[in-house]
Amino acid sequence: MRKKIVAGNWKMNLDYNEGISLFSEIVNMVRDERSGDQSVVICAPFIHLNSLSQLAAGVIGIGAQNSHQQESGAFTGEVSAKMIKSTGATHVLVGHSERRQYFAETDQLLASKTVTALQHNLTPIFCIGETLDERNNGSYYQVLETQLNDGLFHLDEADFRRVVLAYEPVWAIGTGLTATPEQAQDIHAFIRAKIEAKYGMAVSDDTTILYGGSCNPSNAAQLFAQKDIDGGLIGGASLKSRDFTDIVKTFNS
Ligand code: 13P
Repeated sequence: MRKKIVAGNWKMNLDYNEGISLFSEIVNMVRDERSGDQSVVICAPFIHLNSLSQLAAGVIGIGAQNSHQQESGAFTGEVSAKMIKSTGATHVLVGHSERRQYFAETDQLLASKTVTALQHNLTPIFCIGETLDERNNGSYYQVLETQLNDGLFHLDEADFRRVVLAYEPVWAIGTGLTATPEQAQDIHAFIRAKIEAKYGMAVSDDTTILYGGSCNPSNAAQLFAQKDIDGGLIGGASLKSRDFTDIVKTFNS
């Protein structure tokens, strides 16, 4: 059975002390609220990874928000998958739309980042999503299919099974404009059908696909009730312990 996951993405927020303080609250609140078959992950800036891993107490998985595609070397300012793994982190976001948009990350680059992350036993949370223009001009199915084909479908079945997907429509990120449950379900079913065509039904059934984009305590229940939505990737609401915990609790209600 596929795993349910609620993952927070803190983005470039919270200094060292603020991060420790918010995370301590989240651990204490989430400890009592999550159900057995559900994982909770926080994807934090690099400076937090080691400390949060120590505070996580097996309750929460820790993820980075980016990793470099090379093993090591003269790449000033970059952080490798091996370094991330050594902090105790277990996950890494790959291809978040902000990386694609502001750092010109291409599907080809993301394909190699995914391989390197897997080589170091990190679980990639691979993000795809269309822009508002692509939604409005009707090219979004094609855009998503290309992101899957070029960024992810080079993996063999065993490696693909180790990846978590996240559908984040760019027009819904940080805008307060959420995809309706029907819009999100439609895309999640489309993604699952593409996985089935490539890897077969058993793999497609087992793949966790998260929804992200203005997810909050008021809309999470309806989104997560859709049959192909297995949880959420939460931006703004993951910076508030009560909101994030309420989203986690949604799976229990
Ligand atoms: P918001 O929840 O703030 O819209 O951000 C979503 C996101 O980008 C998570 O990765």
